Amino acid sequence: MDTILKTEHLCKIYGTGNNLVNAVQDVNLSIEQGEFVTIVGKSGSGKSTLLHMLGGLDHPTSGSIFIRDQNLFQMKEEERAVFRRRKIGFVFQAFNLISSINVWENIVLPIGLDGRQVDEVFVEDIIKTLGIENKLHNLPNTLSGGQQQRVAIARAIASKPDIILADEPTGNLDSKTSDEVVGLLKMSVQKYGQTLIMITHDEDIAQIADRTIVIEDGKVVR
Ligand SMILES: Nc1ncnc2c1ncn2[C@@H]1O[C@H](COP(=O)(O)OP(=O)(O)OP(=O)(O)O)[C@@H](O)[C@H]1O
Ligand SMILES: [Mg+2]
Repeated sequence: MDTILKTEHLCKIYGTGNNLVNAVQDVNLSIEQGEFVTIVGKSGSGKSTLLHMLGGLDHPTSGSIFIRDQNLFQMKEEERAVFRRRKIGFVFQAFNLISSINVWENIVLPIGLDGRQVDEVFVEDIIKTLGIENKLHNLPNTLSGGQQQRVAIARAIASKPDIILADEPTGNLDSKTSDEVVGLLKMSVQKYGQTLIMITHDEDIAQIADRTIVIEDGKVVR
């Protein structure tokens, strides 16, 4: 098996004294290249904290994260920022699109920021897969929620990251649109050989993953 992401004794503590929260406690995960994993658990159980650390957005209190053989938090800050831009794509519940530029510009912006050439054939293929090819010149606020989330997904996939991390990407969508968007996300990551780790509250969505990780009080219980 080809492990792409591994955590060792990963912990995150917020606050001190009476305000101390063990948000993530001794998490040991191993995720294979191409796997689709969902993370479920009650509100406040530590899902987002875990996902943010996996993506290098938040520092662990202790423990390690390896992406392939690279220790994410032994890199210098700047090195980690570049690594994150190239290897990891994020999709959040709030779509985080830039309102003053059109759909195409939103999708290719991170590639430009990274100083890379846009692989136009690849990006156009993603856009067709996601069914937003007739919206490329639109501003984000002229799209429906489901369409905006598809743009955010296209943007995450377009920079060819190895891993896509999604935090309740369908939290703002109705159930029919949610199923569609997750279906497209799953199909896209399969097509491009990417690894998908997704937090969801939706049991139907959790079921279509290769594996589901259940978190309670910061611990992986299943
Ligand atoms: N910046 C912070 N400062 C202090 N405590 C925090 C911070 N972020 C999260 N926490 C706490 O850590 C715990 C885990 O929060 P987290 O956001 O990871 O939960 P979650 O499982 O994503 O919940 P939800 O399903 O509601 O999004 C909670 O008790 C939360 O209050
Ligand atoms: Mg959360």
